[in-house]
Amino acid sequence: MEAMRIGILGCGGIAAKMAATLVAMPQTQVRLVAVASRSEEKARAFAARFGVPTAYGDYRGLYDDPEVDLIYIATPHNFHFSQTTAALRAGKHVLCEKPLAVNAAQGAQMVALAKQTGRFLLEAVWTRFQPLAKTAFDWLAAGAVGKPLSLEARFGCRSVGEPRIREPELAGGALLDLGIYTLTAASLLFGDEGRLYATHAALSDAGIDLRSESLYLYPDGKTAHLVSAVDCPMERRITVYGTDARLEISGISRWDALTLYAGDDTILRHEDAPAGISGYEYEVLSACAAIRAGKIECAELPHALSLQILRQMDELRAAWGMRYPFESELDAPV
Ligand SMILES: NC(=O)c1ccc[n+]([C@@H]2O[C@H](COP(=O)([O-])OP(=O)(O)OC[C@H]3O[C@@H](n4cnc5c(N)ncnc54)[C@H](OP(=O)(O)O)[C@@H]3O)[C@@H](O)[C@H]2O)c1
Repeated sequence: MEAMRIGILGCGGIAAKMAATLVAMPQTQVRLVAVASRSEEKARAFAARFGVPTAYGDYRGLYDDPEVDLIYIATPHNFHFSQTTAALRAGKHVLCEKPLAVNAAQGAQMVALAKQTGRFLLEAVWTRFQPLAKTAFDWLAAGAVGKPLSLEARFGCRSVGEPRIREPELAGGALLDLGIYTLTAASLLFGDEGRLYATHAALSDAGIDLRSESLYLYPDGKTAHLVSAVDCPMERRITVYGTDARLEISGISRWDALTLYAGDDTILRHEDAPAGISGYEYEVLSACAAIRAGKIECAELPHALSLQILRQMDELRAAWGMRYPFESELDAPV
């Protein structure tokens, strides 16, 4: 088996975490062969830090590199559409950071292009690939909390100072950056039949969502309360309340531990995430396996689910009256 040859596009914060992960993974499976930045100096420094053989001072070099199989796109949200489509058109497989696109209309075009080119496309929602995601689902399915009734998920930090969070032009705001994980938690644990019951967002003067709270109602009466914020540090936790017990998940993008509590707070069961490398290795391994099997999507996060979450984010932004400045009438959430 040939190692998957991976290139990273954009040498920012998450790119460094992914690079550290890739070089720690078995090199028979994956090899980080190239990086690209808008700045040649930055690309060279990043490449030197992780021992990467090729550094490009523009993104085009990476699309055109015949030695690269899979491009990992690690740039602000507004660039995901144009960079993913450029990479797919250049014949590359793509692992694109979350969210796949800024809205469902863009996402649908990206998925259509993956089908047309026969190239693999995955949104890097790493949570769905983590071992504890399956364990938590199995515990609930086996009745660990009794009948699940209510879910709460929060993801909040004070990151509004960062340009990619603050600026509408970069598709900033809490929803696309952090809220996507609360929606993912509800999808993983309660399924995708919930309908939006109520929502409220506090918008910044520039028009991005600083904070929001949303309530979803499921056909069997379950509810999910989802909170995300970029102006307020919060605990990173998911709680599922059931008729017999509650399940607490520590962490929200990375699920670190599961703890099952009885009504009197006695711990009934606990499981920590396996040590692993960083937690990003699971999505990479799944992507590689799917590509080797000739697939264009992963079972853990098929295209339809990425589009479903994008539609939910469109619906929320429409309810808040929030539109990014570059969204045309056609692209805008409905
Ligand atoms: N999975 C996770 O755990 C996780 C965690 C954090 C972020 N993310 C996602 O990863 C993506 C990048 O986030 P990040 O925190 O890594 O961002 P970041 O540190 O701000 O880096 C983004 C990179 O994008 C490139 N870029 C290109 N045009 C840019 C522009 N006009 N303004 C700013 N940067 C530009 C830059 O790379 P060059 O200068 O090298 O070209 C920059 O270093 C986002 O989609 C975010 O949601 C995922």
